[in-house]
Amino acid sequence: TPLEQQLKDLESFQVIAHRGASGHAPESTMAAYELAHEWGVDYLELDVQLTSDGELVIFHDDAIDRTSDGEGKINDYTLEELMALDTGTWFNEANAEKADAAFEGAQILTLEALFERFGHDARYYIETKSPQLNPGLEEALVETLEKHEMIENGRVLVQSFEQDSLLKVRELNKRVPLIQLVWYSPSEEDNDRLVEWTGVTPGPAEITDEDFQAIAEYAVGIGTNVTYNGEDVINASFIRQAQENGLPVHVYTINETDEMKRLQDWGVNGLFTDYADRLLDIL
Ligand code: G3P
Ligand code: CA
Repeated sequence: TPLEQQLKDLESFQVIAHRGASGHAPESTMAAYELAHEWGVDYLELDVQLTSDGELVIFHDDAIDRTSDGEGKINDYTLEELMALDTGTWFNEANAEKADAAFEGAQILTLEALFERFGHDARYYIETKSPQLNPGLEEALVETLEKHEMIENGRVLVQSFEQDSLLKVRELNKRVPLIQLVWYSPSEEDNDRLVEWTGVTPGPAEITDEDFQAIAEYAVGIGTNVTYNGEDVINASFIRQAQENGLPVHVYTINETDEMKRLQDWGVNGLFTDYADRLLDIL
């Protein structure tokens, strides 16, 4: 079945376009996804959140200030209000050498619009972002995935840092393949948050097969960082151990070619990148 094929594909190397081709076009806009799709990436990565009137929009930050001409929390606005924003001009201002007049006035993108554009001709790697700020997010997401027949057709992975959010998705539809995101840092505070979210003991020295098995009970893979402030926080044996426990490993967010090659040598199963073009070039 297409779903079985998707799970099989996870064993090989996946190119994941982080927020679309966000190194070249404003993140999470149609322009960014069009470009990544043209390149033929394996997955379009996106974060979903809810508007005040319950619509699913593709947006990373909790606040709209950085990537639009508005300000405040995204959940405080209706879809209509958000549609009036310009989510492209900030990119031109921040990246003079990549600026393109076509990006000006880019509208915020709904999940519906993305699915209507690419349908089953793409795969989508969808993060339930800030689930505690977006109550009802999982219900709205699963409903939209079912409406567009994304799950059985092997078109979607749902990722989250929050285990509860993934378990909620599973409760709504047990066929959705889930990816547990984890975060390693030398900071005790961050690691405490990791424990709270995933129930996993942090650190490559301490993580056990049982920790990985606990994730493998509900997830088909993990997404992790590798470096923190330029220093490695996990190693190749962590990757191998996860894989031996049935969990393919995707690493976020890798933009430099040398680092892409290094992680490929470690045997990771895929990379999230703002520059999928660079990754495709070396594969
Ligand atoms: O979803 C993987 C990676 O995107 C997590 O970080 O902050 O870019 O959503 P973030
Ligand atoms: Ca994300």
